[in-house]
Amino acid sequence: MRLASIFLPDEDAATRLGAQLGAQLAPGLQAGDVICLEGPLGAGKTTCARGLIKAFCGASEVPSPTFTLVETYQNGDAALWHFDLYRLEHKRDVWELGFEDALADGICLIEWPDRIEGLLPPDRLRLVFHIQPSGGRRVEIDGPEIWRKRLETAGLI
Ligand SMILES: Nc1ncnc2c1ncn2[C@@H]1O[C@H](COP(=O)(O)OP(=O)(O)O)[C@@H](O)[C@H]1O
Ligand SMILES: [Mg+2]
Repeated sequence: MRLASIFLPDEDAATRLGAQLGAQLAPGLQAGDVICLEGPLGAGKTTCARGLIKAFCGASEVPSPTFTLVETYQNGDAALWHFDLYRLEHKRDVWELGFEDALADGICLIEWPDRIEGLLPPDRLRLVFHIQPSGGRRVEIDGPEIWRKRLETAGLI
């Protein structure tokens, strides 16, 4: 279900959207939450993830998991797993990255979730980034009704 469509004119706007999600949802983010970041290379997925992760746990450095495929963060008892699956060769390789633990005990932020089609929970939140001719980005937010309530409560939509 389409929950929102937001224009992000520049990198700061993408960082801010992530930060709003991280800061306002962080207290309510729950183990098992999956947020997918979709769109082509250069669409701003990592930029948004950085904003979210910094707001979530105050991390000062948020490296892109381009080559490591996953980076993990902790805030108290809550763990956040940031995946970039662009270079995942086989779907089954995701289990070696700790995906089972991530789904069971953590919050998952996943770039290139199409690499593991079929392994994702149906109640995930999807942020789909589109590069605009103007140079900015449009992000379409899709998810089940439960996420609408959470985003509304957080004042994001
Ligand atoms: N909303 C935006 N408008 C314009 N440029 C952006 C926006 N979001 C990100 N960028 C820029 O796009 C480039 C790629 O961003 P990145 O987050 O690494 O993309 P991805 O992870 O989707 O490959 C960076 O130079 C970043 O500054
Ligand atoms: Mg990226």
